Amino acid sequence: MRTLIAGNWKMHGSKDWSRKPAEFDETLPSRQRTGIDVLICPPFPYLAAMAKACEGLDIAVGSQDCHANSSGAHTGETSAEMVADCGATYAIVGHSERRAAGESDSDACQKAEAALRAGLIPIICVGETLEQREAGEALSVVEGQIKESVPYGYDDYVIAYEPVWAIGTGKVAEISDIKEMHDHIRGIVGANTRILYGGSVKPGNAKDILATENVNGALIGGASLEMADLAAIARSA
Ligand code: 13P
Repeated sequence: MRTLIAGNWKMHGSKDWSRKPAEFDETLPSRQRTGIDVLICPPFPYLAAMAKACEGLDIAVGSQDCHANSSGAHTGETSAEMVADCGATYAIVGHSERRAAGESDSDACQKAEAALRAGLIPIICVGETLEQREAGEALSVVEGQIKESVPYGYDDYVIAYEPVWAIGTGKVAEISDIKEMHDHIRGIVGANTRILYGGSVKPGNAKDILATENVNGALIGGASLEMADLAAIARSA
């Protein structure tokens, strides 16, 4: 199974960030990335330019969301077909920052299905809050999210386990907790689905996280904004 190193730029960047893929490739050329897929997920307005900037560099581009419908009267929304039309091949769905804004498992599921219909690989995000972890509910919460957020009858998707309390906080889950959760997720999704860890992944902790059984890559926020950091994380995979 190929390791996926995915950068989620969230609401960061500008037009001139299309220089970043070349910067990444200078630091870690594609010939040194055997067995690793690299993905960058910029904000919607930059998708097409990023896809162009990634041509020939063996770096994939994805969106951070997509709408469940292909087209229609949905002001401000972007369909999976439009994302694919821009040259992207992945779409993140159900990120906890969108769940916090009211998105449900069912929304994430419909978006994941829309992504698959459009030929994109959805990265379906799941993860417990600190309250849920402290109440001993982490495994059951994540299991419930996966059962409700993964569309039936498809297998080309990625799961990203991102404990909400570890996102952007500098707090990282213990390796033993990551292993326990990823083993649990493996039991639900089967042998062929990539399971990423996300939440304050940095060059300094990536090696141990990526060496953990059933961790098939990382979804990286803050540290993906600097190509030197993203490349260092990819190198440690
Ligand atoms: P950080 O790496 O900044 O904690 O963000 C993780 C994340 O939310 C990636 O989707």
